[in-house]
This record gives sequence, C-alpha cells and structure tokens, in this order.
Amino acid sequence: MNNKTLLENLRNIPDFPKKGVIFRDVTTLFDNPDCLQIMEEELYDLYKDKGITKIVGIESRGFIMSSALAIRLHAGVVLCRKPGKLPCDTIQETYTKEYGTDTIEIHKDAITSDDVVLLHDDLLATGGTMKAAYDLVKKFNPKKIYINFIIELTREGMHGRDNFDKETEVTSLLEV
Ligand code: PRP
Ligand code: HPA
Repeated sequence: MNNKTLLENLRNIPDFPKKGVIFRDVTTLFDNPDCLQIMEEELYDLYKDKGITKIVGIESRGFIMSSALAIRLHAGVVLCRKPGKLPCDTIQETYTKEYGTDTIEIHKDAITSDDVVLLHDDLLATGGTMKAAYDLVKKFNPKKIYINFIIELTREGMHGRDNFDKETEVTSLLEV
C-alpha cells in the first residue's frame, strides 16, 4: 500500500537502539490524526469482509490500532501481554530472541474455536514476536487466523514474513 502521508510522517531514528539500526518510530503515526484515520480506513478495507470476531493486539504498540479497528468491525479486542500482567488464567508461549527467551500470554477464555482472529502488531522485524503470538493463538483452535502489521521491515536483510506458512494471509500497510 505504502500511503504517501504515512511514509512521510513515519519518524526514522538512525543508530537507535544501536549503531547501524534505523529505528522506525510509529508514535508519529499515532499522534497524527490524519495518519490515524488513514491507518484505520486501510485496515477496515483489508478486513471488512473477513468475518473477524477477535483482534489480538500485541503489547504494547499493537494495542492502539487493534482497538480502533475492533470498534469499526464490531469485533472484540484480546490483549497479548508480557508475563505477569493478566489477572486470570492464561495460556503462554515462550520464544527465543537475540539474547535469551521471552514469554507472551493470553487469557484462557479470551478466544474460542468459533472465532476468526486477526493478529495485529505495529511492526514486523525478525517475526519472532508474531510467530509466538501465532503459535499461541493456534492453541485455541480458531476458525482462521489473519496477521497484520502497520510496518513491515523488508530491507536490511529482514524476512520476518518467512515465519508464516503460505496459507496464512499476512498484510502490512507500509514496507520500509
Ligand atoms: C517491538 C514491536 C514488535 C516487535 C517486533 O516490540 O512492537 O512487537 O518488537 O520485533 P520482532 O519481529 O523481531 O519480534 P517491543 O518488544 O519493543 O515491545 P513494545 O511494543 O512493548 O515496546
Ligand atoms: N521500530 C520499532 N520496533 C522495532 C524496530 C523498529 O525499527 N525494530 C525492531 N523492533
């Protein structure tokens, strides 16, 4: 898609968090009402006919557009969180990161086998986080799982979408 307004407003921060990395700062899309509206409309166009019943937002920047789209689609929002934040029984997934491991979790009763689920996060880099979320949501045996990002890193040797099989529909609003 690569909407011009979104591209122009995405803030790029060189050498953050370490030298050689260009950090794509999505907060400048969130704090701009035109960008928010464009993102919400593009997401609605992508998912309006898919029968989505739950949107799983990945902590923390994935929560923002999950909520906006869920209201428009009349779907529910499910929080996928780092450990120890959710108060009730959870199902967890642990995954390997560059240094060590990380865990994410979802409330046990938040998704059922009748749901059509959209997984949403702000950004796809290595894909480790979303692959873990995907594997976690698969444990709930939903009817179908879709995946979306606002930003997909495709340069600098990134192939995050290779984590997902060809049958899984993966979309992004911006490729940088
Ligand atoms: C960032 C981003 C994604 C993930 C992408 O989150 O929001 O969730 O990293 O990286 P990956 O594709 O290599 O897994 P971060 O861990 O910084 O958490 P935050 O949103 O709470 O700041
Ligand atoms: N922006 C935000 N989150 C990230 C990035 C980035 O460029 N790379 C890995 N996680």
